[in-house]
Amino acid sequence: MVDFSKQIQVYQKSVEMALDFWLPKPSVDPKNLHEAMRYSVLAEGKRIRPILLYATGQAFDVELNNLNGPACAVEIIHAYSLIHDDLPSMDNDDLRRGKPTCHKAFGEATAILAGDALQTLAFQILASDPEIKTNNAQRLKMIETLALASGSNGMAGGQAIDLASVGIKLNIEELENMHSHKTGALIRASAEMGALSAKHINSELFACISDYAKYIGIAFQIKDDILDIESDTSTLGKPQGSDLALNKPTYPNLLGLDGSKEMANKLHQKAIKCLDVFDEKAKMLREIANYIINRSK
Ligand code: IPE
Ligand code: IPE
Ligand code: MG
Ligand code: MG
Ligand code: MG
Repeated sequence: MVDFSKQIQVYQKSVEMALDFWLPKPSVDPKNLHEAMRYSVLAEGKRIRPILLYATGQAFDVELNNLNGPACAVEIIHAYSLIHDDLPSMDNDDLRRGKPTCHKAFGEATAILAGDALQTLAFQILASDPEIKTNNAQRLKMIETLALASGSNGMAGGQAIDLASVGIKLNIEELENMHSHKTGALIRASAEMGALSAKHINSELFACISDYAKYIGIAFQIKDDILDIESDTSTLGKPQGSDLALNKPTYPNLLGLDGSKEMANKLHQKAIKCLDVFDEKAKMLREIANYIINRSK
């Protein structure tokens, strides 16, 4: 099997070509809106959600081409969440993926609309992509999975908890609840959509994958909180220290840096354990779990 970093590049390239295909062309009216959508989505992101979706799909023997549509859909929802997360009324950040945030480059109204339009584009892709070869029941399940993970019981709900918790000391259960909604839900949905892309899914294996992704999703946001303290703006491509400046509830704030790292490691171990039922096919999924807690950006 090819090594991890080469395989990651294959996945990144695959989703980036598909994103370019699905995003409206900048020459088409309303040009400013289409430019803003492309600006944010095609900027240099890690593509961790598509990577997870591809790796899960491939663990269930799905061809790469048949995973491009769902991979685009999750990345597009994620990009929309970042545009709105950066708005002045939310985290009020100026830098994203190494460039001025969408509202800095295009104005606040266009940034709001770009987020809106991206959100619906994601569902258009899932509903219409002819390369999705799973049956219609599973295609519908994919749409439902992404909708639930993005809405008020998923990412948007988690963002609401985040905003309502500024300056408040959450306890560990409340913090985990916030992280599992605002970030965990979309990461879990990415793995589930990879599995749903298979022609036949075994419900036991599906549950194992879903649990694995639940743990790495929370670990991903804990690591994001740690990097906000330990990394620097140019490595991150977004402002370091933003959480502290905004008095956000974070794991380091509650448990300290060492306690947060310990927590991320515990979640990592739990995630790896969920993959015991898989053989070599889950190699990439194990590597992704390692990457999530060891990454530097
Ligand atoms: C940042 O997500 C926001 C969180 C949910 C923690 P990523 O760290 O995946 O950001 P990109 O996509 O690489 O820019
Ligand atoms: C964002 O969490 C989660 C989203 C749903 C976008 P953060 O506010 O910590 O993300 P960054 O650090 O700005 O990327
Ligand atoms: Mg935020
Ligand atoms: Mg933010
Ligand atoms: Mg953050």
